[in-house]
Amino acid sequence: MRAYFDHNATTPVAASVVEAMVPVLGGVFGNASSIHGYGQEARQLLEEARRRVASFLRTKAEEVVFTSGGTEANNLALFGVLRGPKDHFVTTAIEHPAVLNVVEELRAIGHEVTIVPVGGDGVVDVDDVRRALRPTTRLVSLMAVNNEIGTVQPVNEIAKVCREAGVLMHCDAVQAPGRVAMDFDVDLLSLSGHKLNGPKGVGVLRVRKGVPLRKRTYGGHHERDRRPGTENVAGAVGLGVACEKVTMMQGDLRDRLESALLGRVADCYVNGDAARRAPNVSNLRFLGVEGESLVIALDLKGFAVSSGSACSSGSVEPSHVLIALGLSALDARSAIRFSLGASNTVEEVDGLVEAVVESVQRLRKLSPAYA
Ligand SMILES: Cc1ncc(COP(=O)(O)O)c(C=O)c1O
Repeated sequence: MRAYFDHNATTPVAASVVEAMVPVLGGVFGNASSIHGYGQEARQLLEEARRRVASFLRTKAEEVVFTSGGTEANNLALFGVLRGPKDHFVTTAIEHPAVLNVVEELRAIGHEVTIVPVGGDGVVDVDDVRRALRPTTRLVSLMAVNNEIGTVQPVNEIAKVCREAGVLMHCDAVQAPGRVAMDFDVDLLSLSGHKLNGPKGVGVLRVRKGVPLRKRTYGGHHERDRRPGTENVAGAVGLGVACEKVTMMQGDLRDRLESALLGRVADCYVNGDAARRAPNVSNLRFLGVEGESLVIALDLKGFAVSSGSACSSGSVEPSHVLIALGLSALDARSAIRFSLGASNTVEEVDGLVEAVVESVQRLRKLSPAYA
Protein backbone atom coordinates (compact mmCIF):
# COMPACT_ATOMS: atom_id res chain seq x y z
CA MET A 1 0.00 0.00 0.00
CA ARG A 2 1.15 3.53 -0.78
CA ALA A 3 -0.66 6.45 0.84
CA TYR A 4 -0.13 10.16 1.30
CA PHE A 5 -0.67 11.78 4.71
CA ASP A 6 1.22 15.03 4.19
CA HIS A 7 -1.46 17.34 2.80
CA ASN A 8 -0.29 20.31 4.87
CA ALA A 9 2.98 20.18 2.94
CA THR A 10 1.21 20.10 -0.39
CA THR A 11 -1.86 18.57 -2.00
CA PRO A 12 -2.36 16.60 -5.21
CA VAL A 13 -3.65 18.76 -8.06
CA ALA A 14 -7.34 18.02 -8.64
CA ALA A 15 -8.28 16.48 -12.00
CA SER A 16 -10.65 19.39 -12.70
CA VAL A 17 -7.77 21.83 -12.10
CA VAL A 18 -5.50 19.98 -14.54
CA GLU A 19 -8.35 19.87 -17.06
CA ALA A 20 -8.81 23.63 -16.82
CA MET A 21 -5.09 24.41 -16.97
CA VAL A 22 -3.90 22.18 -19.80
CA PRO A 23 -5.71 24.02 -22.63
CA VAL A 24 -4.43 27.32 -21.25
CA LEU A 25 -0.84 26.10 -21.06
CA GLY A 26 -1.11 24.57 -24.51
CA GLY A 27 -3.13 27.16 -26.36
CA VAL A 28 -3.48 30.50 -24.61
CA PHE A 29 -0.04 31.98 -24.70
CA GLY A 30 -0.95 35.66 -25.11
CA ASN A 31 0.37 38.21 -22.64
CA ALA A 32 -2.63 39.34 -20.60
CA SER A 33 -1.42 42.94 -20.91
CA SER A 34 -1.39 42.92 -24.73
CA ILE A 35 -4.25 44.69 -26.45
CA HIS A 36 -4.58 42.28 -29.38
CA GLY A 37 -6.86 39.27 -29.45
CA TYR A 38 -4.26 36.85 -28.06
CA GLY A 39 -3.74 39.11 -25.09
CA GLN A 40 -7.43 39.68 -24.56
CA GLU A 41 -8.11 35.96 -24.55
CA ALA A 42 -5.55 35.55 -21.74
CA ARG A 43 -6.92 38.61 -19.92
CA GLN A 44 -10.44 37.20 -19.94
CA LEU A 45 -9.28 33.93 -18.41
CA LEU A 46 -7.23 35.79 -15.81
CA GLU A 47 -10.14 37.99 -14.79
CA GLU A 48 -12.52 35.05 -14.67
CA ALA A 49 -10.05 33.32 -12.33
CA ARG A 50 -9.83 36.45 -10.21
CA ARG A 51 -13.62 36.52 -9.88
CA ARG A 52 -13.62 32.88 -8.76
CA VAL A 53 -11.00 33.52 -6.11
CA ALA A 54 -12.83 36.66 -4.99
CA SER A 55 -16.07 34.76 -4.63
CA PHE A 56 -14.31 32.11 -2.52
CA LEU A 57 -12.87 34.86 -0.32
CA ARG A 58 -16.23 36.66 -0.24
CA THR A 59 -14.65 39.80 -1.59
CA LYS A 60 -14.43 41.87 -4.78
CA ALA A 61 -12.22 40.90 -7.72
CA GLU A 62 -10.21 44.13 -7.54
CA GLU A 63 -9.04 43.14 -4.05
CA VAL A 64 -7.37 39.96 -5.37
CA VAL A 65 -3.65 40.26 -6.21
CA PHE A 66 -2.10 37.16 -7.79
CA THR A 67 1.36 36.28 -6.48
CA SER A 68 3.78 33.38 -6.86
CA GLY A 69 2.43 31.71 -3.71
CA GLY A 70 1.86 32.07 0.01
CA THR A 71 5.42 33.11 0.78
CA GLU A 72 5.34 36.04 -1.60
CA ALA A 73 1.85 37.03 -0.44
CA ASN A 74 3.05 37.17 3.18
CA ASN A 75 6.16 39.13 2.24
CA LEU A 76 4.13 41.59 0.18
CA ALA A 77 1.68 42.11 3.04
CA LEU A 78 4.36 42.81 5.64
CA PHE A 79 6.91 44.77 3.63
CA GLY A 80 4.11 46.48 1.70
CA VAL A 81 2.34 47.89 4.75
CA LEU A 82 5.16 48.63 7.20
CA ARG A 83 6.71 51.97 6.29
CA GLY A 84 8.80 54.12 8.59
CA PRO A 85 11.20 52.27 10.86
CA LYS A 86 9.05 53.40 13.77
CA ASP A 87 6.13 51.25 12.58
CA HIS A 88 5.69 48.52 15.18
CA PHE A 89 4.73 45.04 14.00
CA VAL A 90 3.07 42.29 16.06
CA THR A 91 3.02 38.61 15.17
CA THR A 92 3.14 35.28 17.00
CA ALA A 93 5.69 32.61 17.86
CA ILE A 94 3.91 29.91 15.83
CA GLU A 95 3.75 31.60 12.42
CA HIS A 96 5.16 30.00 9.30
CA PRO A 97 8.76 30.95 8.37
CA ALA A 98 7.23 33.02 5.54
CA VAL A 99 6.30 35.46 8.32
CA LEU A 100 8.83 34.74 11.06
CA ASN A 101 11.85 35.01 8.78
CA VAL A 102 10.53 38.34 7.49
CA VAL A 103 10.76 39.53 11.09
CA GLU A 104 14.55 39.16 11.06
CA GLU A 105 14.71 41.41 8.03
CA LEU A 106 12.25 43.92 9.49
CA ARG A 107 14.37 44.20 12.61
CA ALA A 108 17.49 44.63 10.50
CA ILE A 109 15.94 47.69 8.83
CA GLY A 110 14.91 49.18 12.16
CA HIS A 111 11.33 48.07 12.79
CA GLU A 112 10.24 47.18 16.27
CA VAL A 113 8.62 43.77 16.42
CA THR A 114 6.74 41.98 19.19
CA ILE A 115 6.36 38.22 18.94
CA VAL A 116 3.42 37.10 21.04
CA PRO A 117 4.01 33.74 22.75
CA VAL A 118 1.47 30.91 22.96
CA GLY A 119 0.64 28.48 25.74
CA GLY A 120 0.79 24.69 25.57
CA ASP A 121 -2.51 24.63 23.67
CA GLY A 122 -0.95 26.35 20.65
CA VAL A 123 -3.74 28.92 20.42
CA VAL A 124 -2.91 32.63 20.57
CA ASP A 125 -4.60 34.53 23.40
CA VAL A 126 -6.58 37.59 22.26
CA ASP A 127 -5.57 39.54 25.38
CA ASP A 128 -1.89 38.86 24.77
CA VAL A 129 -2.23 40.50 21.36
CA ARG A 130 -4.23 43.38 22.84
CA ARG A 131 -1.48 43.96 25.40
CA ALA A 132 1.21 43.89 22.71
CA LEU A 133 -0.34 46.82 20.80
CA ARG A 134 1.33 50.23 21.07
CA PRO A 135 0.40 53.65 19.70
CA THR A 136 2.98 52.98 16.96
CA THR A 137 1.65 49.52 15.99
CA ARG A 138 0.79 49.49 12.30
CA LEU A 139 0.22 45.83 11.53
CA VAL A 140 -0.65 42.53 13.23
CA SER A 141 -0.12 39.24 11.39
CA LEU A 142 -1.74 36.03 12.58
CA MET A 143 -2.18 32.72 10.81
CA ALA A 144 -5.67 31.20 10.56
CA VAL A 145 -4.65 27.55 11.00
CA ASN A 146 -1.24 26.40 12.16
CA ASN A 147 0.45 24.26 9.52
CA GLU A 148 2.19 21.94 12.00
CA ILE A 149 -0.35 21.26 14.73
CA GLY A 150 -3.54 22.46 13.03
CA THR A 151 -4.69 24.75 15.84
CA VAL A 152 -7.33 27.26 14.74
CA GLN A 153 -6.52 30.82 15.78
CA PRO A 154 -9.03 33.47 16.93
CA VAL A 155 -8.56 35.59 13.80
CA ASN A 156 -11.82 37.53 13.88
CA GLU A 157 -11.57 38.30 17.62
CA ILE A 158 -8.09 39.69 17.10
CA ALA A 159 -9.24 41.52 13.95
CA LYS A 160 -11.84 43.28 16.10
CA VAL A 161 -9.18 44.33 18.62
CA CYS A 162 -7.07 45.66 15.75
CA ARG A 163 -9.95 47.55 14.20
CA GLU A 164 -10.77 49.24 17.50
CA ALA A 165 -7.11 50.23 17.88
CA GLY A 166 -6.81 51.48 14.28
CA VAL A 167 -4.24 48.79 13.45
CA LEU A 168 -4.16 46.86 10.16
CA MET A 169 -4.43 43.08 10.27
CA HIS A 170 -2.98 40.43 7.98
CA CYS A 171 -4.00 36.78 8.09
CA ASP A 172 -1.91 33.96 6.65
CA ALA A 173 -4.85 31.79 5.63
CA VAL A 174 -2.76 29.35 3.57
CA GLN A 175 -3.88 26.36 5.67
CA ALA A 176 -7.49 27.48 6.07
CA PRO A 177 -9.34 26.32 2.90
CA GLY A 178 -11.39 23.22 3.54
CA ARG A 179 -10.49 23.34 7.25
CA VAL A 180 -12.39 26.38 8.52
CA ALA A 181 -14.90 28.91 7.13
CA MET A 182 -13.28 31.56 4.95
CA ASP A 183 -15.00 34.43 6.74
CA PHE A 184 -11.99 36.40 7.93
CA ASP A 185 -12.67 40.08 8.54
CA VAL A 186 -9.11 41.24 7.93
CA ASP A 187 -7.33 43.85 5.80
CA LEU A 188 -4.88 41.51 4.11
CA LEU A 189 -5.06 37.76 3.56
CA SER A 190 -2.70 35.21 1.97
CA LEU A 191 -3.64 32.06 0.06
CA SER A 192 -1.55 29.45 -1.73
CA GLY A 193 -2.68 27.35 -4.70
CA HIS A 194 -0.90 24.14 -3.81
CA LYS A 195 -2.53 23.78 -0.39
CA LEU A 196 -6.02 23.50 -1.87
CA ASN A 197 -5.51 21.01 -4.68
CA GLY A 198 -4.41 23.75 -7.02
CA PRO A 199 -1.06 24.30 -8.75
CA LYS A 200 2.22 25.31 -7.14
CA GLY A 201 3.77 28.70 -7.80
CA VAL A 202 0.56 30.69 -7.60
CA GLY A 203 -1.08 32.39 -4.65
CA VAL A 204 -3.06 35.43 -3.70
CA LEU A 205 -2.80 38.43 -1.46
CA ARG A 206 -6.22 39.83 -0.84
CA VAL A 207 -5.87 43.55 -0.17
CA ARG A 208 -8.93 45.28 1.21
CA LYS A 209 -9.92 48.44 -0.66
CA GLY A 210 -8.27 51.50 0.87
CA VAL A 211 -5.38 49.62 2.51
CA PRO A 212 -2.22 51.44 1.48
CA LEU A 213 0.10 48.80 0.03
CA ARG A 214 3.47 49.65 -1.44
CA LYS A 215 4.72 47.18 -4.04
CA ARG A 216 7.90 45.34 -3.14
CA THR A 217 9.19 44.50 -6.58
CA TYR A 218 9.49 46.96 -9.43
CA GLY A 219 8.55 46.57 -13.04
CA GLY A 220 5.35 47.09 -15.00
CA HIS A 221 1.99 48.13 -13.61
CA HIS A 222 0.40 44.69 -13.42
CA GLU A 223 -2.13 43.68 -10.77
CA ARG A 224 -3.28 47.29 -10.38
CA ASP A 225 0.25 48.37 -9.69
CA ARG A 226 0.57 46.12 -6.68
CA ARG A 227 2.64 43.23 -8.07
CA PRO A 228 4.56 43.65 -11.34
CA GLY A 229 5.36 40.84 -13.75
CA THR A 230 3.62 39.09 -16.64
CA GLU A 231 0.76 37.15 -15.13
CA ASN A 232 0.77 33.38 -14.70
CA VAL A 233 -2.58 32.89 -16.44
CA ALA A 234 -2.63 29.08 -16.33
CA GLY A 235 -1.72 29.14 -12.64
CA ALA A 236 -4.43 31.68 -11.89
CA VAL A 237 -6.98 29.60 -13.84
CA GLY A 238 -5.98 26.52 -11.83
CA LEU A 239 -6.24 28.39 -8.56
CA GLY A 240 -9.65 29.77 -9.51
CA VAL A 241 -11.01 26.30 -10.26
CA ALA A 242 -9.43 24.89 -7.08
CA CYS A 243 -11.14 27.59 -5.01
CA GLU A 244 -14.48 26.71 -6.55
CA LYS A 245 -14.02 23.03 -5.68
CA VAL A 246 -13.02 23.45 -2.02
CA THR A 247 -15.19 21.35 0.27
CA MET A 248 -15.04 21.19 4.04
CA MET A 249 -13.04 18.24 5.35
CA GLN A 250 -14.50 16.03 8.02
CA GLY A 251 -12.58 14.93 11.09
CA ASP A 252 -13.72 11.29 11.21
CA LEU A 253 -10.65 9.73 9.56
CA ARG A 254 -8.26 11.88 11.58
CA ASP A 255 -10.11 10.87 14.75
CA ARG A 256 -9.99 7.21 13.74
CA LEU A 257 -6.22 7.45 13.22
CA GLU A 258 -5.59 9.39 16.40
CA SER A 259 -7.72 7.32 18.75
CA ALA A 260 -6.22 4.08 17.39
CA LEU A 261 -2.68 5.37 17.95
CA LEU A 262 -3.39 6.83 21.38
CA GLY A 263 -5.06 3.55 22.34
CA ARG A 264 -2.36 1.22 21.03
CA VAL A 265 0.91 3.08 21.51
CA ALA A 266 2.10 3.84 25.05
CA ASP A 267 3.64 7.25 25.78
CA CYS A 268 2.03 8.91 22.78
CA TYR A 269 0.56 12.42 23.15
CA VAL A 270 -1.30 15.01 21.08
CA ASN A 271 0.56 18.29 20.49
CA GLY A 272 -1.66 21.36 20.79
CA ASP A 273 -5.30 21.78 21.68
CA ALA A 274 -7.19 18.72 20.49
CA ALA A 275 -10.52 20.54 20.27
CA ARG A 276 -9.62 23.82 18.54
CA ARG A 277 -8.00 22.08 15.61
CA ALA A 278 -8.41 21.71 11.86
CA PRO A 279 -10.18 18.42 11.11
CA ASN A 280 -7.36 16.97 9.00
CA VAL A 281 -4.34 17.27 11.30
CA SER A 282 -2.95 15.10 14.06
CA ASN A 283 0.43 16.06 15.48
CA LEU A 284 1.60 13.36 17.90
CA ARG A 285 4.76 12.80 19.84
CA PHE A 286 6.07 9.32 20.54
CA LEU A 287 8.39 9.40 23.54
CA GLY A 288 11.83 7.98 22.87
CA VAL A 289 11.38 7.96 19.09
CA GLU A 290 13.23 10.28 16.75
CA GLY A 291 10.61 11.82 14.48
CA GLU A 292 12.89 11.79 11.44
CA SER A 293 13.56 8.06 11.90
CA LEU A 294 9.84 7.36 12.10
CA VAL A 295 9.22 9.38 8.92
CA ILE A 296 11.81 7.27 7.11
CA ALA A 297 10.49 4.00 8.56
CA LEU A 298 6.96 4.88 7.43
CA ASP A 299 8.16 5.97 4.01
CA LEU A 300 9.77 2.55 3.55
CA LYS A 301 6.35 1.06 4.27
CA GLY A 302 4.75 3.37 1.70
CA PHE A 303 3.28 6.06 3.98
CA ALA A 304 4.20 9.72 3.55
CA VAL A 305 4.04 11.76 6.76
CA SER A 306 6.09 14.63 8.11
CA SER A 307 8.13 15.20 11.23
CA GLY A 308 7.80 18.24 13.41
CA SER A 309 11.34 19.23 12.61
CA ALA A 310 12.79 21.29 9.84
CA CYS A 311 16.09 20.47 8.23
CA SER A 312 18.28 23.51 7.98
CA SER A 313 21.92 23.55 6.96
CA GLY A 314 22.32 19.85 7.57
CA SER A 315 21.18 19.85 11.19
CA VAL A 316 17.70 18.88 12.28
CA GLU A 317 16.24 21.76 14.25
CA PRO A 318 13.33 21.03 16.54
CA SER A 319 10.13 22.68 15.34
CA HIS A 320 9.84 26.31 16.50
CA VAL A 321 6.11 25.72 16.91
CA LEU A 322 6.54 22.82 19.33
CA ILE A 323 9.26 24.72 21.22
CA ALA A 324 6.83 27.68 21.46
CA LEU A 325 4.30 25.30 23.03
CA GLY A 326 6.83 24.67 25.80
CA LEU A 327 8.10 21.25 24.69
CA SER A 328 11.72 20.31 25.29
CA ALA A 329 13.91 19.90 22.19
CA LEU A 330 13.90 16.14 22.78
CA ASP A 331 10.10 15.96 22.93
CA ALA A 332 9.75 18.27 19.93
CA ARG A 333 12.04 15.96 17.95
CA SER A 334 9.75 13.02 18.72
CA ALA A 335 6.78 14.56 16.89
CA ILE A 336 5.08 13.45 13.71
CA ARG A 337 2.47 15.36 11.72
CA PHE A 338 -0.23 13.38 9.96
CA SER A 339 -2.21 15.64 7.64
CA LEU A 340 -5.10 14.08 5.77
CA GLY A 341 -6.82 15.02 2.56
CA ALA A 342 -10.09 14.38 0.79
CA SER A 343 -8.85 11.23 -0.96
CA ASN A 344 -7.62 9.31 2.10
CA THR A 345 -9.60 6.15 2.87
CA VAL A 346 -10.40 4.05 5.94
CA GLU A 347 -8.13 1.30 4.56
CA GLU A 348 -5.23 3.72 4.25
CA VAL A 349 -5.75 4.97 7.78
CA ASP A 350 -5.90 1.44 9.17
CA GLY A 351 -2.77 0.51 7.22
CA LEU A 352 -1.00 3.57 8.57
CA VAL A 353 -1.96 2.67 12.15
CA GLU A 354 -0.39 -0.81 11.79
CA ALA A 355 2.73 0.69 10.23
CA VAL A 356 3.12 3.28 13.02
CA VAL A 357 2.54 0.74 15.81
CA GLU A 358 5.13 -1.64 14.35
CA SER A 359 7.69 1.10 13.56
CA VAL A 360 7.43 2.78 16.96
CA GLN A 361 7.90 -0.55 18.71
CA ARG A 362 10.97 -1.32 16.64
CA LEU A 363 12.52 2.14 16.98
CA ARG A 364 11.96 2.14 20.72
CA LYS A 365 13.81 -1.14 21.08
CA LEU A 366 16.81 0.63 19.54
CA SER A 367 16.40 3.78 21.62
CA PRO A 368 18.50 4.15 24.75
CA ALA A 369 16.45 7.25 25.59
CA TYR A 370 13.26 5.19 25.78
CA ALA A 371 14.75 2.29 27.74
C1 LIG B 1 0.86 28.63 6.95
C2 LIG B 1 1.68 28.72 5.71
N1 LIG B 1 2.00 29.93 5.23
C3 LIG B 1 2.72 30.09 4.11
C4 LIG B 1 3.18 29.00 3.40
C5 LIG B 1 3.99 29.22 2.15
O1 LIG B 1 3.23 29.02 0.99
P1 LIG B 1 3.93 28.72 -0.43
O2 LIG B 1 4.47 27.34 -0.35
O3 LIG B 1 2.85 28.87 -1.43
O4 LIG B 1 4.99 29.76 -0.61
C6 LIG B 1 2.88 27.72 3.86
C7 LIG B 1 3.41 26.52 3.15
O5 LIG B 1 3.90 25.59 3.77
C8 LIG B 1 2.11 27.56 5.04
O6 LIG B 1 1.79 26.36 5.52
